[in-house]
Amino acid sequence: MKKLTRLTAALLTLVAALALSLPACAAREGGESPNDPNAPFQAHASLAISADGFSDVDAGAWYAGAVDYVREHKLMNGVGGGRFAPGETLTRAMLATVLWRQAEEPVVNYLMQFSDVPGEQWYTEAIRWAASERLVEGYGNGRFGTDNPITQEQLNLIFGRYTDQPVTDGIPGFDGSAKPATRAQAAAAVWNYARLPQQPAGQGKVLVAWFSATNNTENVANHIADILEADRYEIVPETPYTSADLNYRNDSSRANREQNDPAARPTISGSVENMAQYNVIFLGYPIWHGQAPKIISTFLESYDLSGKTVVPF
Ligand SMILES: Cc1cc2nc3c(=O)[nH]c(=O)nc-3n(C[C@H](O)[C@H](O)[C@H](O)COP(=O)(O)O)c2cc1C
Repeated sequence: MKKLTRLTAALLTLVAALALSLPACAAREGGESPNDPNAPFQAHASLAISADGFSDVDAGAWYAGAVDYVREHKLMNGVGGGRFAPGETLTRAMLATVLWRQAEEPVVNYLMQFSDVPGEQWYTEAIRWAASERLVEGYGNGRFGTDNPITQEQLNLIFGRYTDQPVTDGIPGFDGSAKPATRAQAAAAVWNYARLPQQPAGQGKVLVAWFSATNNTENVANHIADILEADRYEIVPETPYTSADLNYRNDSSRANREQNDPAARPTISGSVENMAQYNVIFLGYPIWHGQAPKIISTFLESYDLSGKTVVPF
């Protein structure tokens, strides 16, 4: 009898433990919004994605291929109930997360200062990465606009920072206006981007920039740009250096005076068009008295280069 009581008690304990653990599991999955792109894809796959895809994505729909792509590459989840909701909008945080996933979720050490992006959220690292890549800039008032729908205009702007190739051209209903983009349109842009030749997500473009007074550095710069098929930018002084300016044997020559003056910042004529599109900058210059000419300081201080890789040569 005592044995039976112990067995019954053990069984009751097991049943109670199971009963308690079931709602706990349900709460973990159900606690995330169905739109939450950071929800574990596998968990959602069994709920939201049938073997054939989504119930609201017709195989003949213009966005069917794009939705297949984002689903197969685990970039976008459904919204629950087996639906993709192609006509619904997606938030700016979600888009950042989709792009981050496409770039294989890089972890970056970058101090992000958006007041509406707290730490430890499902989108925090994605937005940190996107900000470090200068793909997103926020609203300029310190806010990222985490929960706001991404507009067609913003989508164009973001992809314009990735590539100069058109990725939204021809997407039905897409006119680049301030209207919110739909999930189908965003998926199509992501898919179009993925199909561009030699544009790994997040890698960005390469710029070869140089200053050269007597063409030696320029020859090397052109060689590098040829090999990398990179864009080129020559740092041209507003006042060109004459041979007298470059006479390093004369203490009072312009170059020597500049090199001896920590505050010297010779003015540059012109500027790099859309520096935000470049991730890697090869920067070439001659050595003047053991250091870079001061015009290189002018160049470096003219742009926000944080998060970019600068390769001196
Ligand atoms: C004012 C001045 C100072 C220089 N100082 C150095 C130096 O400290 N060390 C060095 O190896 N070459 C020095 N050079 C030589 C240049 O670095 C070299 O000629 C370089 O190839 C020039 O490049 P560019 O043709 O692109 O201007 C100096 C040249 C000038 C004009």
